[in-house]
Amino acid sequence: MKLIAPSILSADFSRLGEEIKAVEAAGADWIHVDVMDGHFVPNLTIGPPVIEKIKKVATKPLDVHLMITNADDYLKNYIDAGASTLSVHVEACPNPAETLREIRKLGAKASITFNPETPIEKVEPFLDQIDMILVMSVNPGFGGQGFIASALDKAKKLSQIRKEKGLHFLIEMDGGIKTDNIAEVSNSGVDVFVVGSGIFLTPDYKKTIGEMRGKV
Ligand code: DX5
Ligand code: ZN
Repeated sequence: MKLIAPSILSADFSRLGEEIKAVEAAGADWIHVDVMDGHFVPNLTIGPPVIEKIKKVATKPLDVHLMITNADDYLKNYIDAGASTLSVHVEACPNPAETLREIRKLGAKASITFNPETPIEKVEPFLDQIDMILVMSVNPGFGGQGFIASALDKAKKLSQIRKEKGLHFLIEMDGGIKTDNIAEVSNSGVDVFVVGSGIFLTPDYKKTIGEMRGKV
């Protein structure tokens, strides 16, 4: 099962509801929501009140990616607002096992994520405690950046570990994915493709998502 999750970071925020409806009509499986605090990353986006409104418009699951320093203080806020899956950065969690446990306890799917420069060893201890792992293929903070190819090796390794250990987490990748590299990303074992500018900055979302689906 391969899933496409448009990232609304590159949507027109003045028409957010329409943009969400448009990508859903175009075939999106999930809606990826980037939460930034101007501290963990040098950019600032949206928080629980906006997600609550998005939840009223969206019919697909909300895949919420927290790029914030003190995620532990806000898990309940994001899950109550409507997050189906919550991704937390290993770099920002003092005790990831506890954070992941808490996310599940609050009723969402637990996902761990890690930056391009963070080695896979930092997330390996948690692979039996997650529903998904998000491999960052750009440095978090902005849409429209170039794809960092070392993410492919990380996905391959995770896919191998998943098989060896009989685990069932999904592998998601985020950053720099476009129609021209999505096949390669898919071949590395990725199940969920986060695509921001590669969808929202194209003129025909349906055509773009259709092309992507044909390649994965
Ligand atoms: C980056 C975000 C991404 C971003 C991806 O910090 O996590 O979700 O929207 O955008 P593109 O697809 O344009 O690289
Ligand atoms: Zn993201």
